[in-house]
Amino acid sequence: MNPPTLLPARRVGPDTDLFSTHATLPGLGVLPINAYLIHAREPVLVDTGIGALEDDFVASLAERIDPADLRWIWLTHADPDHLGALRAVLDMAPRARVVTNYLGVGKLGLLQVPPERTWMINPGQTLDVGDRHLQALRPPVYDAPETMALFDTRTRHLFSSDCFGAVLAEPALAAADVASADLREGMALWASIDSPWLAQVEHEALAAACRPLQDLRPARVLGSHLPPAANLDPFLYAAIDSARLRSPFVGPDQQAFEQAMGLAQPATA
Ligand SMILES: [Fe+2]
Repeated sequence: MNPPTLLPARRVGPDTDLFSTHATLPGLGVLPINAYLIHAREPVLVDTGIGALEDDFVASLAERIDPADLRWIWLTHADPDHLGALRAVLDMAPRARVVTNYLGVGKLGLLQVPPERTWMINPGQTLDVGDRHLQALRPPVYDAPETMALFDTRTRHLFSSDCFGAVLAEPALAAADVASADLREGMALWASIDSPWLAQVEHEALAAACRPLQDLRPARVLGSHLPPAANLDPFLYAAIDSARLRSPFVGPDQQAFEQAMGLAQPATA
């Protein structure tokens, strides 16, 4: 299993940089893990990568911005693949506050992030970052109740958090570079792993939950676990709808895993 490495940061649209790595999912493929920097008048970091790459992440961040200038860290939710370098970034960015909601603040409190470093908003509200507003949204698919996606009203980028993630055969620079059938299958697999409750949701309910995001007509969907996606909206929504029909993912148990990975001990006489 390859240890994750941080790819060079790159511009993925106006005002927006991507910091990306890939986690290997043994037997399944690779999962992109993305964080973003919005070069707003009050700069915003969206998530902070994984802890194993903390040093690389802050070094890469410092190549794109003086961390002391960061004003906001929008934590889409408090999972380890989103808050990996949070502590280091908070130390480097003394003026930055973590944007989340009541539950997110509670979870961060358990990690000893003091309340004066957090800023609570709720889905439907906006954050003024000087030259644009960031609109908080509850995505239709998520794995943690504090999850908030965000929409940049200036670039029309939708940062969708775990929604629209995809397990891929190999890393890709753009979602459009992945064959449609592979992307659909990879998205359905990811949804069945990350949001197994989706199998209990009726089509109409999911469609209603998707509508507020669709109505925004984003220029790009920038997911936490998807290569940047432009002009793919109908496909993305159809893919998560088809994921409803999939059985919730159940991984191998220890014995099956060891067998599949060739780790099983030969039986001794
Ligand atoms: Fe995630």
